[in-house]
This record gives sequence, structure tokens and C-alpha cells, in this order.
Amino acid sequence: MVSYITSLNGGESDAYHILTRRIAPNRAANRDPSRYDRPEVFDPSRYLDDFQTSAEAATNSDVKKRDHFTFGVGRRVCQGMHLADRSMYLSIARLLWAFDFQKALDPEGNEITPDRWAVTEGLVMQPQRFPVKITPRSEERVRILRQAWRDCEKFLDDEKQWKELPKGIALPGYETASDEKM
Ligand code: HEM
Repeated sequence: MVSYITSLNGGESDAYHILTRRIAPNRAANRDPSRYDRPEVFDPSRYLDDFQTSAEAATNSDVKKRDHFTFGVGRRVCQGMHLADRSMYLSIARLLWAFDFQKALDPEGNEITPDRWAVTEGLVMQPQRFPVKITPRSEERVRILRQAWRDCEKFLDDEKQWKELPKGIALPGYETASDEKM
């Protein structure tokens, strides 16, 4: 459960809303041994015959056909899963196109396998820092990446936030820095 407090009347009175929301134990559900064979193992073949999008799986009335529970469950299920799915697909595909990922080596030349249980604490967990060897797959790919970054940079300010909206992105009500100047 997560609780948070908001003031009423924009903070001008002493009244408060105390709101509580339930976050489902997604991590435990994802590791349910009655659903998944060897749940701790990274095994993409588990999804070979599953052609559902995250949204279709999340609303499948047969819970046994849900692929995973990472986006939550029920009415408060993640609204951003469509964007998250696509963003992760593009990011991962591009990283694999550009780089080779290998385990780092210790001083004796042995591969260092990260401990899968070494995660940060908190409501949202992520792996603790671990060494890894990332190598560009070719000089040509490095050149393309550097050019892509230069192309992006012109849209970013000193804090790497958008100062200009790239062409073709329609966000109603969004004003770019250059719009404000006009
Ligand atoms: C991999 C990326 C993401 C993960 C794993 C994730 C996961 C979650 C989870 C677990 C919840 C709570 C669901 C529940 O209460 O059971 C949630 C809620 C939510 N997420 Fe995401 N999320 C992701 C990306 C995004 C993105 C990109 C957006 C928006 C663009 C987004 C917008 C929201 C919103 C608005 C809610 C609240 C929905 C509600 O309370 O009705 N999420 N998300």
C-alpha cells in the first residue's frame, strides 16, 4: 500500500485528503512457480507462442494467459504500457544493433556473473551496479550513432531537456521554446 496526502483548496485550508492506493505484488506474481517453470531463469522461449500485446494480455479474462504482471493488474493497471512496450522494443533493438554485450572479466580473466538477487531496495527495484563489457559492433555503427546523437542534440537544452519539439510529434498544447519567443 502507498499513502500520500494532498491539501484541499490549494493549501489555503487545514483540510487534507489522505489517499491510499494498492500496488499489486507484481514481482511475486511474476515468480509464481505454479505459473512458470523455473521462474527465476531468464527464458524468453516462455513467450514463443504468445502473440498478445501487453494490453491484450493485461485484459485477457483468462488469467492463465497473462504473460506477466509487471504493469500491474485490474483497473489501475499501467496506462503507459503501450508506450513502454514500444520504447523498450526500440531501445533494446538499437542497443543490440550497435553493441556487443559481454560479461566483464576479473583480474584473473574469469567472467564475472552478476548476482541476480543484488537489487536496490524500495518500491521500484533495479539491479545494483555491476561490471559489464560493452563494445561497438563496428566503426560504421559508431559513426551512425554519433551522427544520430548530433541530430538529437539540437532539440535539447543545457539540461538535456527538449527545447524544440521534433517535427511530426503532435502534442496538443505543447509550446516549444521557439514558439514562446514568437
Ligand atoms: C517499463 C515501464 C513501466 C512499468 C514497468 C510500469 C508499471 C506500472 C505499475 C506496476 C503501475 C501500477 C499498477 C497497479 O496499481 O496495479 C503503473 C501505473 C501507471 N503507469 Fe506505468 N509503468 C511503466 C511505464 C509507464 C509509462 C511510460 C507511462 C506513461 C507514459 C506510465 C503511466 C502510468 C500511469 C498513469 C499509471 C497509473 C494508472 C492508474 O492509477 O490508474 N507507465 N505503472
